[in-house]
Amino acid sequence: MMIEEKRQKTGENIISVVSILALILLSACGSPSSETVRADKWQSFSGDKRIEHRVDSVLKLMTLEEKVGQMTQFSANWSVTGPVMSDDFQSYLEKGLIGSIFNATSIDGIRRMQKIAVEETRLGIPILFGQDVIHGYKTIFPIPLGEACSWDLEMMRRTAEIAAIEAASDGINWTFAPMVDIGRDARWGRVMEGAGEDPYLGSKVAEARVIGFQGGRGAKSLNSLTTLLACGKHLAAYGAAESGRDYNPAELSEHTLRNVYLPPYKAAIDAGVGTMMASFNEINGVPATANHWLLTEILRNEWGFTGFVVSDYTGINELVPHGVAKDEKHAAELAVNAGVDMDMTGATYIKYLPKLVKEGKVSEKSIDNAVRSILEIKFLLGLFDDPYRYLDEERAKENTMTPEFMRTARKAVASSVVLLKNDNQILPISKESGKTVALIGPLMNDSINLNGEWAGLGDRNKSVPIFRGLTEKYKGSSVNLIYAEGSSITETTAGKIAEAVSAARRADIIIAAMGEDFNWSGEAAVRTDIRLPEPQHELLKALKGTGKPIVLITLSGRPLDLSWEDENMDALLQAWFPGTQGGYGIADVIAGDYNPSGRLVISFPRNIGQIPIYYNQKNTGRPVDLNNETVDYKSGYLDTSITPLYPFGYGLSYTTFGIDHAKIDKNVLKTKGDKITVTAHVRNTGSTDGETVVQLYTRQLVASVTRPVKELKGFQKIALKAGESKQVTFELTSDDLAFYGIDMQKKTEPGNMKLWVAQHAADNSNEIDFSIE
Ligand code: NOJ
Repeated sequence: MMIEEKRQKTGENIISVVSILALILLSACGSPSSETVRADKWQSFSGDKRIEHRVDSVLKLMTLEEKVGQMTQFSANWSVTGPVMSDDFQSYLEKGLIGSIFNATSIDGIRRMQKIAVEETRLGIPILFGQDVIHGYKTIFPIPLGEACSWDLEMMRRTAEIAAIEAASDGINWTFAPMVDIGRDARWGRVMEGAGEDPYLGSKVAEARVIGFQGGRGAKSLNSLTTLLACGKHLAAYGAAESGRDYNPAELSEHTLRNVYLPPYKAAIDAGVGTMMASFNEINGVPATANHWLLTEILRNEWGFTGFVVSDYTGINELVPHGVAKDEKHAAELAVNAGVDMDMTGATYIKYLPKLVKEGKVSEKSIDNAVRSILEIKFLLGLFDDPYRYLDEERAKENTMTPEFMRTARKAVASSVVLLKNDNQILPISKESGKTVALIGPLMNDSINLNGEWAGLGDRNKSVPIFRGLTEKYKGSSVNLIYAEGSSITETTAGKIAEAVSAARRADIIIAAMGEDFNWSGEAAVRTDIRLPEPQHELLKALKGTGKPIVLITLSGRPLDLSWEDENMDALLQAWFPGTQGGYGIADVIAGDYNPSGRLVISFPRNIGQIPIYYNQKNTGRPVDLNNETVDYKSGYLDTSITPLYPFGYGLSYTTFGIDHAKIDKNVLKTKGDKITVTAHVRNTGSTDGETVVQLYTRQLVASVTRPVKELKGFQKIALKAGESKQVTFELTSDDLAFYGIDMQKKTEPGNMKLWVAQHAADNSNEIDFSIE
């Protein structure tokens, strides 16, 4: 029986009269002090009147307890991604008091739970099934940080879309992605999940991934069986955790919050993301989960978000140790009044909200508004029409790891790899080269680590090791491969090193694959030493002693300190954690079948002491002169440069590119409604076809508040044949140059400006002056 039929039977009219009376009573008593809560008026996400009507018709039937049940999410008990779980899961499910379940990992299990919810509870409201589908579901793509290095927005949209197709075919409706937190601190393990350090690029990637998961902007494609509801996370500034320690306070000004950290969340909302997740950290002394300013004033009132907000895992309970709630009941009150609509795993809402409503500390209106948003999403996903519609084993088989998904994954790997160094053009190693190559290192013949953290339901054993990729690539060619592991990630022995050295001596070139364990990045995976582990370093030193050229492939979930490697290796290839097709994509790059086009989206430090390091820093009153870097009373270091080892936007190719003839069509831009056109010539100056990312940066020299020394304002990834040149054109509008100034309003201020058409953030070669008046 469908829910609207049930409504007739359960006396809708009586319930609605009772609720109207209750509302009148409540308003007569005056609103509870905390009732300014969520926007007073509920605004639907879809704007579809028919759906609004259906939502209201269900809401009218619900008891307060049932409403609060909808605001409750549990993790299915066969898999957890956090510290605690409710034992009451089953009994809440049977009473119709669960709105959403996540970590349910089989169609059969989902069907069983959905059946209980729909067929055995009073109202039969279907459950929304969530999952952390972060960089793929069964087909695992490179970690998001790596994939962002492709600067290929269409590809990122497509990989999110494929993840959605696979997950939705397996009964999942909702992904807790994209993670759009700005990451400026390589110690923080969750940099692997985002798009790096830049708000402009981060916003573009956020948009692409939301559209990929949801099948378009906003609600229109949620009804499809191949899309997922997305969740922008973690609001806000989770990546600004002090000292890089996960969950630590984000100690930052509103100026930095608004100008740097908030734009990607806003971009996700503008792309129509259906849900947002509150972050674990505090901002300005108030944990995000209890932060009315953030979750209601900014998110809903300022940005117009109309979806629903979920807490992070036990984020509401954590308001007690944070020290803003005296107990969990108080925590529930703070969270719901701040604007958190759904409690992830903490069971605080189900336990305390009914009481809090009765005590007048939480208004039933705010509960109704939260429930409306949750029900609306269920309607949009078609769950009320057919709660089992996503559960079809045949469809799951057809839509999983298809040859096309594999091809996309392989291309994604190749385009996320960043070539950091390539002395004497040691790479690529062509199939005709006749070389003997020694393949060495703990990650050379590994499939387990390749998938990285947050690998969905991807089978780690199915990912293609680099060794296999290279073996298949060079099979039947003149290249001869030999292999010795040399070391595990954390251990080696003299014997293993000797074996690797002996293999190296018999070879013309060494390729070593080294780096981190996949568990060293991701949630709660913070490191204070980001160099290669000592045993791997030992091995590299021994290999270096052979005098043979070395290509080092690094696999990691964060920028590593590669200073020693930069000095001592001949070529460096940053391959992140590449996922299912890792070995094939990397082999394409090594053999030259794919010319590397990745560019860093996060600065690589010279050492950990430079962190946080990012290109869009402030000048200070005592800037270091980069030409001589003397530090006497300047904002520098005594023992190292202030520049990164590799800057944002940097990456090499097997060819070279030049940019010249950079021009603008006028020198003065008005503060409102104006634009300038920037053009430049980009030439492939080498002898191989390739792709480059042309980057447009600006700087405002004087404003009411200090501005970064450079800000990315546009980019284009273009393919050029050897010797070919093309004109690139960027349009820069007054709005593109707006920022939050001294009055914390976003606007464009007059001032002198510079712009650069560049190959990376430290490339100053094509500089143009202009002004805003
Ligand atoms: C905690 C993480 O912070 C969040 O990103 C994730 O979605 C939830 N756990 C659920 O696994």
